[in-house]
Amino acid sequence: MEYTLKRGDLAKQKTACLIVGVFEGRQLSEPAAVLDKAGKDQIRRILKKGDFDGKTGQTLLLYDLSGMACERLLLVGVGAHKEFDLQALRKATAAATAVLNDAHPLEAITTLPMVQAGDASLYRMLRETILASEESLYRFDQCKSDAEKPKRPLKRLGLFIGTRRRSRLTDKAISHGLAMANGTILAKDLSNLPGNICTPTYLAGRARAMGRRSRKLKVQVLGEKQMKELGMGALLSVSRGSSQPAKLIVMEYKGGKVGSNPVVLVGKGLTFDAGGISIKPSAAMDEMKYDMCGGASVLGTLAACVEMSLAINVIGIIPASENLPDGNANKPGDIVTSMSGKSIEILNTDAEGRLILCDALSYADRFKPAAVIDIATLTGACVVALGSHASGLLSNDDKLANEVLEAGEESGDRAWRLPLWDDYQSQLDSNFADMANIGGKGAGTITAACFLSRFTEKYKWAHLDIAGTAWKNGKDKGATGRPVPLLTQFLLQRCGPRKRKSS
Ligand code: BES
Ligand code: MN
Ligand code: ZN
Repeated sequence: MEYTLKRGDLAKQKTACLIVGVFEGRQLSEPAAVLDKAGKDQIRRILKKGDFDGKTGQTLLLYDLSGMACERLLLVGVGAHKEFDLQALRKATAAATAVLNDAHPLEAITTLPMVQAGDASLYRMLRETILASEESLYRFDQCKSDAEKPKRPLKRLGLFIGTRRRSRLTDKAISHGLAMANGTILAKDLSNLPGNICTPTYLAGRARAMGRRSRKLKVQVLGEKQMKELGMGALLSVSRGSSQPAKLIVMEYKGGKVGSNPVVLVGKGLTFDAGGISIKPSAAMDEMKYDMCGGASVLGTLAACVEMSLAINVIGIIPASENLPDGNANKPGDIVTSMSGKSIEILNTDAEGRLILCDALSYADRFKPAAVIDIATLTGACVVALGSHASGLLSNDDKLANEVLEAGEESGDRAWRLPLWDDYQSQLDSNFADMANIGGKGAGTITAACFLSRFTEKYKWAHLDIAGTAWKNGKDKGATGRPVPLLTQFLLQRCGPRKRKSS
């Protein structure tokens, strides 16, 4: 969708539909009050009839009001005045755009960013408006033969800013919002594709295509032979049970100063995880096509970097493989040697994510990273610990961890830190190799991170376990595109103007 700034006299805005907020208790937001005055109390009179009380997300479409230039007026509930925050803005915006996408107008103007949301800046309110409307309009129907497309979808949304001036900040809000939304959509699309289409080779092809479209993005794909030469015995052991060859996708985005140390993002790209010989139960196994969401978020974040021409160097590394049972597959008890030289006893072939990640993390070191963040649907235990609201965060560096947490808060794509204390390390002891690939009972998310920490000692590193946040199940089954907003925000913060801490 296209977004433009609108300013000036509200009653004179010529548009197919004006979106205005109404608080709980039928209290008009300021833009609604302005229109009510222009229309001689019509809105108040309609509200008195009692069909609409202002609960967040409630909508009422009105036609033919006099005194204003708009063809329609969409009243949207924005909840209690005192509680109006970014979350409420998102919910109300999503409800409004969903109604308009079904109804007729091709174009509308929203005044919701004019209602102060908590202590958020105008930049944030505009950016969130774009993210929320794109989120509500997203559909994945690439694989349906007769996908129902809205006949007259919403194409343009004006963002009304009243008497405020268009500025660098408002323009940035739109370009950043769009880039974040598009990156999120790319991550969702890749993630929602089934495992038989989205294979390691397919992911590599999509990455290569991105590289061809941007001068700042260089993409290289390592095949199994090259990985073997590098000694990536852990990664290759996972793909041995699959007829799809593993790929190591390496994307270099050069937006920053030549020679300045890059942020390296490493995303788990397990395009289908059946568990291998330690096979998973069949219930909901289809959802293991989402085991590449970490990799998809790296592609999505790099796409956002390209779109914003972000002034920073970023490397994306995606180890991509399937994990299937087969005569060549890993067996419990097998011992493999990782690129780092450390040997690993594979006690459970379903703990494969850490096996492909550890070699990718060793590879990351060659880029002399300023920081490395890996993103992985790594443990079911993380879903138990944090559910679907926060991603798990573990890190060997407090400053980096706080930066990631802050980016999560700033983008509404939150993470919560778990400890990475040495006390947990001994759970990985093996009688036969340098370490086991599982940590036994208890603290599964932490012991998985402990495993990875043995391959990230040379640099500042943070690990995001997105097992609970990367997709939704049930009737709304689908990828969320998380944590593209968090990662993009993190990179925006990094290439600053260094923002002063407000607290
Ligand atoms: N991809 C899974 C983790 C996962 C499971 C994510 C369910 C989301 C929902 C990972 O490869 C895995 O199977 N992990 C095992 C580790 C265990 C064997 C130590 C798990 O979490 O059960
Ligand atoms: Mn697994
Ligand atoms: Zn997995």
